[in-house]
Amino acid sequence: MTSKNERRIGILTSGGDCPGLNAVIRGAVKSADRLGCDMVGFLGGYEGLVDPVTFKPLNRANTSGILNQGGTILGSANKGRFAAVVGVSQRKELAPELLAEARTTVEQLDLQGLICVGGDGSLSIAQQLYEYGLPVVGVPKTIDNDLSATAFTFGFDSAVTCATDALDRLHTTAASHRRIMVLEVMGRHAGWIALHTGIAGGGDVILIPEIPWTVENVCEKILERDSRGKHFTLVVVAEGAKAPDGRLVTREAARDDRQTRLGGIGHLVAEEIEKRLLRETRVVVLGHLQRGGPPTTFDRVLATQFGAHAVRLVVQRQFGKMVCYRPPLINEVPIADAVNILSCVDPQGAAVQAARAMGISFGDSVPTDTPFRVQANMERQERAPENMPDPVGVVCNASAWPANRRAEAVGGECHGSAPWD
Ligand code: F6P
Repeated sequence: MTSKNERRIGILTSGGDCPGLNAVIRGAVKSADRLGCDMVGFLGGYEGLVDPVTFKPLNRANTSGILNQGGTILGSANKGRFAAVVGVSQRKELAPELLAEARTTVEQLDLQGLICVGGDGSLSIAQQLYEYGLPVVGVPKTIDNDLSATAFTFGFDSAVTCATDALDRLHTTAASHRRIMVLEVMGRHAGWIALHTGIAGGGDVILIPEIPWTVENVCEKILERDSRGKHFTLVVVAEGAKAPDGRLVTREAARDDRQTRLGGIGHLVAEEIEKRLLRETRVVVLGHLQRGGPPTTFDRVLATQFGAHAVRLVVQRQFGKMVCYRPPLINEVPIADAVNILSCVDPQGAAVQAARAMGISFGDSVPTDTPFRVQANMERQERAPENMPDPVGVVCNASAWPANRRAEAVGGECHGSAPWD
């Protein structure tokens, strides 16, 4: 491969795609160029690293104009030989021959670093490559926003924007027909997308994995609205919200090379409401629309900063690190600290409290007219160790957050919570 620079950096995008991946690639390529480094992009995620090795040189010319494009010019994969996570917090060891092949590729291309852009599963692969001795730097990506150690992943804001637009549209048709509309959104085992969409789009009920709910409480909210002359209700449900009997609603069971496919809880919620209230209820499953299309301005800025910072880390030889956003700073943390611990919504967090203050129901039995914040703060005072800042509205470091102040594990699925909500 002809090269104008002495140093070369590799980059790949892995896992489910999301808006902003191209902005990361462009940010990395442009800043690498200014630092005197060439870049190559591996195709199809980690698969590009192994037989048949597929990559292409990246430069200013072939990454020009991709800032606002959805998807990834490098392609991606969330299953296959490199599927390193088969379930929440379960790491599957990569085959030794794959690790060896990946190392050969890195050596033959004389890469100074390999930037791996991905979510929890993909970064857990990056960690394994790093432990094997490869010069890896991670960049957190996912619409689910469920990675700990970063306040936000890019892609989340774009997904919420898409889902909020959908909810806005459902609002008018729900009101016209006096219907109940259920919007099922993605997010896997974290309720971030549902929570933010419900707040931003004026939802009446938000059902998330972190807060157990009952159909009775959802129906009560609908009836309460009726009694105030509001003859329609918008319900936002996260795909990972468990049914009242505690089971996850899935489309496809986990296989050796991929995680469980979630989906269907929206229909279950709608059926139960119809059965009990005999009211017309419709369901929209937003699905992959949330992952497509151009990134929002927030995601473009975040992704660009992540790309540039990842290159800086390679040049400084800070391997085994993942770039992260800890407002107002773009920083880095060990990849090992970021993977296998899901960041879930804190049921006591500021966003949930604000939603409750608006009268939004989470399908649980906390009365919506309770001065919840005051009550929650009092409970927190009792539990909080000395010298800890009050989490309401405070930006702080999740890893410094004692376990007893993180979200309770709901059904054993979520093991952590970032306090930025
Ligand atoms: O992790 C991102 C995500 O979009 C989840 O929200 C969703 O559960 C999953 O990926 C869907 O994966 P697939 O593209 O394999 O259907």
